[in-house]
Amino acid sequence: MIYDFPRYLAAKKTVDDRALNAHVWQTLRQNLPPQPAILEIGAGIGTMIERLVEQRFISSAKYTAIDNQSENIATARQRLASLPPGIALMLEAVDLFDFIRREQGQQQWDVLIAHAFLDLMDIPATLPQLFSLLKPGGVFYFSINFDGVTILEPAIDPALDAKIEQLYHQTMDERMTGGRPSGDSRSGRHLFTHLRQAGAQILAAGGSDWVVFAQPDVYTAGYPADEKYFLQFIVETMRRALANHPDLDAAQFEDWIAQRRAQIEAGELVYIAHQLDFVGRWVGER
Ligand SMILES: C[S@@+](CC[C@H](N)C(=O)[O-])C[C@H]1O[C@@H](n2cnc3c(N)ncnc32)[C@H](O)[C@@H]1O
Repeated sequence: MIYDFPRYLAAKKTVDDRALNAHVWQTLRQNLPPQPAILEIGAGIGTMIERLVEQRFISSAKYTAIDNQSENIATARQRLASLPPGIALMLEAVDLFDFIRREQGQQQWDVLIAHAFLDLMDIPATLPQLFSLLKPGGVFYFSINFDGVTILEPAIDPALDAKIEQLYHQTMDERMTGGRPSGDSRSGRHLFTHLRQAGAQILAAGGSDWVVFAQPDVYTAGYPADEKYFLQFIVETMRRALANHPDLDAAQFEDWIAQRRAQIEAGELVYIAHQLDFVGRWVGER
């Protein structure tokens, strides 16, 4: 089994398509200015740009997409090779904070997008820096913000299942990047306060849970599209996060992982992750 992050992001697209909150998504559409200058941070392999084009949200735009993994940007370059001629695309492999330092005070963008990204950040410290990139009154769309619930069905051992969920979320809360805290397993709910404190007006918010399940006899391998791979990647992410955790018996945890993998093979595993989407305007003072 090869765990390939660009393939995971590609497999995630159909899961996200179902999950995105329709009310928040339509509120974004209503608030997009004509010919917008859009900045997407942590853009991965470019699936959000594809979605905006496929759903005719944008036909004429300047779209800047950044990600700190050059492998993701290289994949995005291939996937997005034939966008409509009205869309001027700039892709760059750069760390968000280096980018902010470079662009500081330019206020270039009408729209800022962060999709499945903010929950990896120290949000209260990052939001003011992000909003410094937006024009006054600029629109933000922050989607798929994890919010503290991971459900795997069917149960293996309810007490162990609950302990693994709790420890997995704790790894998100304790994550450090470059010596600084960067993560919050309840980012979704906390964004209401963080956004207001950063001078943002929330226009719409709503749930965007991932719900992945198999429909035997309808799709290949039971799961739609490449969602079997998506699930395998999620279980592997949990394994890597908790391998050698002092509060878990290593053999019991490996057995739990093996049983989750077997449930995927059998098309039995159901995975639900609770998340929230937001759209709004930055109306604060600089
Ligand atoms: C969970 S992925 C989501 C990617 C994409 N938005 C999607 O949903 O398909 C988070 C992305 O953020 C990128 N990332 C993480 N930290 C970053 C940073 N400091 N600067 C730029 N990109 C970063 C990662 O490389 C990864 O592609």
